[in-house]
Formats: sequence, C-alpha cells, structure tokens
Amino acid sequence: MPNRTVITFGTFDVFHVGHVRVLARAAELGDRLVVGVSADALNVAKKGRAPVFNQDERLEIISSLAVVDEVFIEESLERKKEYIVDHGADVLVMGDDWAGKFDWVSDVCEVVYLPRTPSVSTTGLIEHISSLG
Ligand code: CTP
Repeated sequence: MPNRTVITFGTFDVFHVGHVRVLARAAELGDRLVVGVSADALNVAKKGRAPVFNQDERLEIISSLAVVDEVFIEESLERKKEYIVDHGADVLVMGDDWAGKFDWVSDVCEVVYLPRTPSVSTTGLIEHISSLG
C-alpha cells in the first residue's frame, strides 16, 4: 500500500482544543499530515484583522505537534490545487464549517469534511478574553 498523504489548511490562531481534534482526526485518515498555515496577509484580507499570533509563531506551534509531519505558509486561497499537488496529497480534510466549499478540488484529491468541535472558536476566545477587561 502506498503512503497516503493528508493535507489541511487553516489559521490556527490562539490554538485551542478544536484545532487539536481536527488535526488528530485528519492524521488518522492517512500516513502523513501536511498543514498549510494561512499567511497573516491572507487573514487581514479575509477577516479584516491580523491574527493574534503571527504566521511564524503559528507555524512553529503547528510544526511542534506530534501528529503533524510538514507545514508551509498558505499565501493564496486560489493556489489550493497547486499546494495539494505539490505536496502529493491524496486527501484534503477541512472542518464542516467549510462543507461543500472545497468540492472544486475533488478532481485532484479526495475531499473530507470533519464535524467541528462545538462551542470553541478563535473568534469566541478573543471576544471572551477582551471582555475580561
Ligand atoms: N475547527 C474545528 N472545530 C472548532 C474550530 C475549528 O474543527 N471548534 C477546525 C476548522 O474547521 C478548520 C481548522 O480547525 O478546519 C482551523 O480553523 P480556524 O479557522 O483556524 O479556527 P476557528 O476557531 O474556526 O477560527 P475563527 O473563529 O477565527 O474562524
């Protein structure tokens, strides 16, 4: 059986248990897990604010995880297929908040959406911490 490579993408800012679980479950779907960590500029463009932790810090956190084999910075959303092919990925995994949104890459790999962990998000954590004054 050839090795099965799994790829996933995300900001993974203010790292939390939902991130741990999606990465652990993604890793279980193959032999090697590659993570594309979204660039600071991409987050500013997409969400209108910079992440709390910059891309080098987020990359360092993700690369330190035992379930993660390789990391890179995702510079552009449009280059998704290129990243998938360049990293030899057989399956793309995303949380189901993205359900259907990545079906357009299904000609280059399998696409799997995993259930999101309820009640935790980076946005919620930032709001909660801000409210503590
Ligand atoms: N994720 C998850 N369960 C959560 C939160 C995130 O499974 N409770 C997954 C997402 O579906 C995605 C990955 O973790 O596949 C990275 O998500 P990211 O957008 O970085 O985290 P969020 O907490 O959703 O951040 P935000 O609130 O800024 O959207």
